[in-house]
Amino acid sequence: MCGIIGYVSSGIDAENESTTAADGGTGDGRALPVLAEGLRNLEYRGYDSAGVALVEDDDLSVFKQAGVIDDLDLPDDHPATSGVGHTRWSTHGKPTDANAHPHTDCSGDIAVVHNGIIENYDDLRAELDDHEFTSETDTEVVPHLLEEELAARRRRASDGGQVGANADDVTPDGATADDATVADDQIGGVDLVEAVEAVVDRLSGSYAVAVTIAGREEVVVARQDSPLVLGVGEDANFVASDVTAFVEHTRDVVYLEDGDVARVTAGGVDVRSDGEYVERETKTVDWEAEAAEKGGYDHYMLKEIHEQPGALRQTLSGRIDEVGGDVDLELDLPESFLANVDEIQVVACGTSYHAGLYARRLLESFADVRVTVEVASEYEFQGGRDPWETLVVAVTQSGETADTLSAMRKAAKAGARTLAVTNTVGSTAAREADDALYIRAGPEIGVAATKTFAAQVTALSLFTVHVGRRRGTLTSERAGRLLENLRGLPGAVQQLLDASDRLEAVATEYVDEDAYFFVGRQLGSAVALEGALKLKEIAYVHAEGFPSGELKHGTLALVTENTPVLTVLTEGARPGETLNNVKEVESRGAPVIGFSSYDAAANYLDVEIPIPDLGVLEPLVANVGLQLFAYHVANELGRAIDKPRNLAKSVTVE
Ligand code: M6R
Repeated sequence: MCGIIGYVSSGIDAENESTTAADGGTGDGRALPVLAEGLRNLEYRGYDSAGVALVEDDDLSVFKQAGVIDDLDLPDDHPATSGVGHTRWSTHGKPTDANAHPHTDCSGDIAVVHNGIIENYDDLRAELDDHEFTSETDTEVVPHLLEEELAARRRRASDGGQVGANADDVTPDGATADDATVADDQIGGVDLVEAVEAVVDRLSGSYAVAVTIAGREEVVVARQDSPLVLGVGEDANFVASDVTAFVEHTRDVVYLEDGDVARVTAGGVDVRSDGEYVERETKTVDWEAEAAEKGGYDHYMLKEIHEQPGALRQTLSGRIDEVGGDVDLELDLPESFLANVDEIQVVACGTSYHAGLYARRLLESFADVRVTVEVASEYEFQGGRDPWETLVVAVTQSGETADTLSAMRKAAKAGARTLAVTNTVGSTAAREADDALYIRAGPEIGVAATKTFAAQVTALSLFTVHVGRRRGTLTSERAGRLLENLRGLPGAVQQLLDASDRLEAVATEYVDEDAYFFVGRQLGSAVALEGALKLKEIAYVHAEGFPSGELKHGTLALVTENTPVLTVLTEGARPGETLNNVKEVESRGAPVIGFSSYDAAANYLDVEIPIPDLGVLEPLVANVGLQLFAYHVANELGRAIDKPRNLAKSVTVE
């Protein structure tokens, strides 16, 4: 997830400087302060590098570097009245100065910022082998493709409208397409919107792109599976990943739809879809700036719970090989090593540990490999293992958890290979491990991990297919079924989110209880542990999660009519046996809230939340219900949900 912004004003009105923000003005017309402020407002979407491109007549100036926006070395003043900006959350390429956006073409006249993942960038880059690339990003193909496209259009225009130009065609002035500059292109009167349409037609994956070009007072944008919203002002217009970026300047917005391409000028905004101009409704948002940052939700946690379908699409994007029943995770771990790996040891803390527990069952069942999962602070590389044939997988959202890093280092010292499964490109775990698998969930601000748990399990499911296929223990048919479930996951999660009101009502009904128990079996027990952790950390109430078979070995003594039992009754969670345990608590008067795809359970449940059919991923979908339950209980109790007492997002001490 990255943040992008674009701005075009009608010119500088020095007299009007006071209307920069608070009084609702659209600034004095200078682009730089608006872009810089917008990026600060978008920083929650990513903060590992930042940059802006400013257009002043025929000059395009780019300022970009690794680090947070406040570290960006910007001029004190700049006369440009249009430009684009970007704050990055790395997916392809480390957070370096070169990989920071905007990216430019060979001439340096076209600047592009992008949010999303361009899945076919390798192929496109190979096609552009006579272009000079300066970064490792997927994004950089876009300015170079546009350079080609504009040159070809300019040639066609000067050829009197002939179609079919290619890069080797010679223009009337004797230049080839590769020599053609964008400044030349102005003369040809080429339409930038049409050129952008042609370029984005060639991209697969997800993108929100904004393009600006030397000599043009316009920003052209395109959207596919990544958010973009236009801001309609009086003397200036805006575009951004979300309203937060410009809500201080205008509340009149146009939400773009997938497939839209739009032109933003000082005079207005025009939207096209399928090559035709279309009307998109202008809406007025009534959020304050802070609420806008949370997308209108009361808390980041709730926003992040609702972001899960999009986050999971990013996790999966470009990684599934549908035909071969396989995955492409761009891992460097040698295939021969994975084929013979003797044991996988997962080390992690808190929610990441629960993701590891979920993954263990998948790896054992689908890849037929021995797996241990250990709380990182308890880890020692066990004797009796051959380090050279052991893979240690450190699961860590932040990539900075001290306990997990320490476990990973112990494993590396013993001679084991290490893999970091993390959300954070460039984190210590990613840098120190032999290899990294990114979960691509985007920044998570709420201390309680929500979308990152779902993305961790999803990434580890892909890894399961990777290992199983390399070991020869997983057939392409069986892998195909798991991959089909993964493809269905974002939609199934959305179904649970659509039942959010119901879960709020359930939480309100059961808010004042003595304690809460969370039970399930197999994959359901990992989710039970996670459900209990969520409730404890944000609602400050007593909650325990464990395998439901353990109830009768002790905890049943605590079960009363004031201890709700939340249970996972789905595929992958042994619903038949779990139901026997449900009957044990039900007969002792405990209210039972079931997240269920198991019809036989209905008569024993006080509340039934249906879980859509999704094979072994059903418990992961049930977890979304548990997140919403925890959130609404905590909200009823008036807790500090995003910053629960005594806790920190990233725990960097052992
Ligand atoms: O960044 P990490 O995944 O390594 O963090 C591990 C735990 O500190 C973290 O999952 C913690 O348990 C969450 N706040 C729980 O919601």
